[in-house]
Amino acid sequence: MNFYNYIEIMERKGLVNDYKETVKDNKYLNITKDTGAFLDMMVCIIKPRKVLEIGTSNGYSTLWLAKNLPEKGKLITIEKQSNKAKESMSNIKKVGFEDKVTVVVGTAQKYLVSNNEMFDMIFIDANRLEYLDYYDSLIASLRCGGLLVCDNAISHEEELKPFTCMVGEDTRLLSFTLNVGKGEFLVYKY
Ligand SMILES: C[S@@+](CC[C@H](N)C(=O)[O-])C[C@H]1O[C@@H](n2cnc3c(N)ncnc32)[C@H](O)[C@@H]1O
Repeated sequence: MNFYNYIEIMERKGLVNDYKETVKDNKYLNITKDTGAFLDMMVCIIKPRKVLEIGTSNGYSTLWLAKNLPEKGKLITIEKQSNKAKESMSNIKKVGFEDKVTVVVGTAQKYLVSNNEMFDMIFIDANRLEYLDYYDSLIASLRCGGLLVCDNAISHEEELKPFTCMVGEDTRLLSFTLNVGKGEFLVYKY
């Protein structure tokens, strides 16, 4: 199905679902559309060969990240809830992106600890209180010259403080918060 038609279907479904669901784990909590467009533009500029996403949910942000991946580009996305991972795979197939996207079911912690791949771009939108638990392996997985984008930098500024402060004190990194969507914390690795 056409990308924009399917994105609109997902947006409507997300609004209805997150309005009616009271259990947080059952909500999709998708990024905003302008964040999606921003990620799309970043992919166009960076032309990453390898992208890592942490926090797939039903794959809304995954579709934006995959839309303009270079021909040989690959995206690995990690989701700990198997039902959401399954739903994301179905959404990814609907727009024909299954050859460039791999959905990993499990936690970021577990994936990163045994990962030895380097990523040109990382998008993180998971449990914010856990980011420091896997900080070292996360930054180690970003190649020098790569970009990490972290969602909710404005909507959950206080919750993200331990992470943003750690990045701020890390001499390998340069960071900036952009007022797009819920606030995007951009981290460049020298
Ligand atoms: C805010 S939602 C992601 C929304 C998604 N990025 C989008 O825009 O469509 C956060 C997701 O991260 C998952 N998650 C939270 N902590 C995680 C972890 N440590 N490892 C993997 N997934 C995690 C949750 O199950 C949830 O589905």
